[in-house]
Amino acid sequence: MGFPLRLMNTVFSVEDLRAVVADWRRAGETIAFVPTMGNLHEGHISLLRRACELATRTVVSIFVNPIQFGRGEDYARYPSTLEDDKQKLQAAGLDLLFVPNLDQLYPGGMEEDTRVTVPVLSTILCGQFRPGHFSGVATVVSKLLLNVQPDVALFGEKDYQQVLVIKQMAHDLLMPVKILGQPIVRDPDGLAMSSRNAYLNAQERSCAPLIFQSLTRAAEKLQQRSASLIAIETAGMAELAAAGFRPEYFSVRRVHDLSPPQAGDSSLQILVAAWLGPARLIDNLRVDLQVPLATA
Ligand code: PAF
Repeated sequence: MGFPLRLMNTVFSVEDLRAVVADWRRAGETIAFVPTMGNLHEGHISLLRRACELATRTVVSIFVNPIQFGRGEDYARYPSTLEDDKQKLQAAGLDLLFVPNLDQLYPGGMEEDTRVTVPVLSTILCGQFRPGHFSGVATVVSKLLLNVQPDVALFGEKDYQQVLVIKQMAHDLLMPVKILGQPIVRDPDGLAMSSRNAYLNAQERSCAPLIFQSLTRAAEKLQQRSASLIAIETAGMAELAAAGFRPEYFSVRRVHDLSPPQAGDSSLQILVAAWLGPARLIDNLRVDLQVPLATA
């Protein structure tokens, strides 16, 4: 049986995290960071693999961040699988796991804590249906980046809007870190990997790949110009609703800022959020048009 070359260290306090990072910096190491909420799957591990290629040291955090969940959302039942996660991280060659508790990240409590809010981008699509969500994400990611002090931080593009929010936050706050989005990892039937897929029963799980199929069909229609943008969005919503989903949006947007497409655009992102039973699923697909849009 092979043993990992490096032993993973786990720290629970910000103070211990800073001490390890300071030692690495003195030794001239570079740091790549993957923030997570745990319940790790192949999507997270692919981020860590890429992180190992990009820096000499890798840090993963596991923290289920209450302030990014709305009232009635799944904060209380979010799956916690720490021992299993640790084994996966050790096997993938992680150097440092940071597992803070609430007091470490919110020492003054959460009510009057300072918040980081990225305007405009945080209010559309998922932000419209989950008010305060992206401010919760931007706040916790700021705290993590300030203390891990990575050269690069990696995020999965299943949460495409989240990646753009964090990129804008890092840019606007002059954070000396490169934010990288990484491709979605899918199950063989096309379903984007997500911790929330575990909420689906067998019947819902068999239906769930329809999300990716509907995105793929919409992409084909866009490429062939066989329908208007509005017709493509409406058909996507209808297809999901007919199959028992409760879709929140099915939307074609510009790649860089998720604003509505304009004439001349050729880089588009189709994004979807839909409930299936107890799970809120999101997914997205990029389309690079061979011929730019003539009209919006
Ligand atoms: O994508 C996630 O898992 C979370 O939103 C993140 C980035 C770890 C912040 O809590």
